[in-house]
Amino acid sequence: MSEVPHDLVARIADRSARVGVIGLGYVGLPLVLLFEEAGFPVIGFDVDEAKTAALTRGESYIRHIGAERIAKAFTGGGDVTATTDFARLAECDAIIVCVPTPLGPHREPDLKYVRITAETIARHLRAGQLVVLESTTYPGTTREEMLTRFVDKGLVCGRDFFLAFSPEREDPGNERFNTKNIPKVVGGIDAPSQAVAAALYGAVIDRVVPVSSPEVAESAKLLENIFRAVNIALVNEMKVVFERMNIDVWEVIEAAKTKPFGFMPFYPGPGLGGHCIPLDPFYLTWKAAEYGTWARFIELAGEINTSMPRYVVDRTVEAINRAGRSIVGATILILGLSYKPDIDDDRESPSFELIELLQERGAVVSYCDPYVPFARKGRKHDLGLASAPCTAEEFAKYDAVLVSTPHTQFKDASLYANVKLAVDTRNIVPRDGVNVVRA
Ligand SMILES: NC(=O)c1ccc[n+]([C@@H]2O[C@H](COP(=O)([O-])OP(=O)(O)OC[C@H]3O[C@@H](n4cnc5c(N)ncnc54)[C@H](O)[C@@H]3O)[C@@H](O)[C@H]2O)c1
Repeated sequence: MSEVPHDLVARIADRSARVGVIGLGYVGLPLVLLFEEAGFPVIGFDVDEAKTAALTRGESYIRHIGAERIAKAFTGGGDVTATTDFARLAECDAIIVCVPTPLGPHREPDLKYVRITAETIARHLRAGQLVVLESTTYPGTTREEMLTRFVDKGLVCGRDFFLAFSPEREDPGNERFNTKNIPKVVGGIDAPSQAVAAALYGAVIDRVVPVSSPEVAESAKLLENIFRAVNIALVNEMKVVFERMNIDVWEVIEAAKTKPFGFMPFYPGPGLGGHCIPLDPFYLTWKAAEYGTWARFIELAGEINTSMPRYVVDRTVEAINRAGRSIVGATILILGLSYKPDIDDDRESPSFELIELLQERGAVVSYCDPYVPFARKGRKHDLGLASAPCTAEEFAKYDAVLVSTPHTQFKDASLYANVKLAVDTRNIVPRDGVNVVRA
């Protein structure tokens, strides 16, 4: 009969348990800091040597994670290191996995990072360790991809090692909610795993929400993201319908949200962005097919959301035509390359698609984003562009400016004083005295 590992729980309580975090990106790096600041010895692991070297020098590579915090942790004499040497996993009492879970070319889950990591951990796994997967994924991954590889080593879960899933709920740039005060759902494979994982997170996070299995925890994360994807699709569809009826969707939402119960506002936009909402729902549709069941809401939401950049481009072309100009050769400035306001994360940003679709139609496209001075080469895009200045003089040079990301800086009405045409997907351009089209 498996029992709670009281020695590990005690070492978590007195902060002597060493925590390893694999994958030092948007999710993993804040966790390293959280555990370090709570007094735990921490080792951060990544395959990207540039990242571990930057951290070792005390430098940040994620804008909203302040360089000061990184410098204090890594060069301030604390017991924290960043390394590419995975043999050091053996030194860790708890290992938290935060590697990417992207989609493959056919929108199927690409679990290669999780699998590689599970194999690496399996090579170094020793008795008494806790492993927690945090990467967003379909229900069953922790059991199918991690447990099986560890059990193959002859170790018994709940006795020799402990395994759980605990989804991340990071909201980059949110000033109210951070890793510490966002409740953390934790689902262990068995009771001892649950107890030790809850103890680990309970040491650094205000509220731990225990659930009965990793599958429930994996599914809860997907439900949260699917809820957003579906509601954003709904409001995007409303935008298209109301536009035809000459009704302002933004005014409709403002009115509807005065209902004090049973309604939650979502806002239309040029399409979905970020590492989570455009991708995660399809982890569930893929897995559902294995059970002969179809997640039609998710597919429909995906269809509507992915059609948005094309809709916005069509509206832009119409507006340029109405202004007596051809889209071929028209100059257009896209405002915002990151996928959400006031951060520098441009992953899956719909702005890339807007730029490419407009270029296909013959427009000459530039972008302005104070958070993204250069458009980095990504897996899908390589624009080779640098940001234009964020000034009224600059905006006035183009045949149209197209608002994609509602950065606070773009809300300055004076920027639009002399624009020829503004296409606004975020309702931030002033309505008076500006030739503006909502899209
Ligand atoms: N970014 C978010 O806001 C967010 C929120 C909730 C959940 N998630 C989920 O968390 C997971 C990580 O996302 P992220 O945004 O931190 O990704 P990220 O790309 O910012 O970071 C992932 C890191 O893992 C490293 N890596 C890749 N393969 C590795 C390997 N084999 N071993 C060690 N390191 C490896 C990469 O170099 C990178 O530094 C994903 O599953 C994502 O869906 C992200």
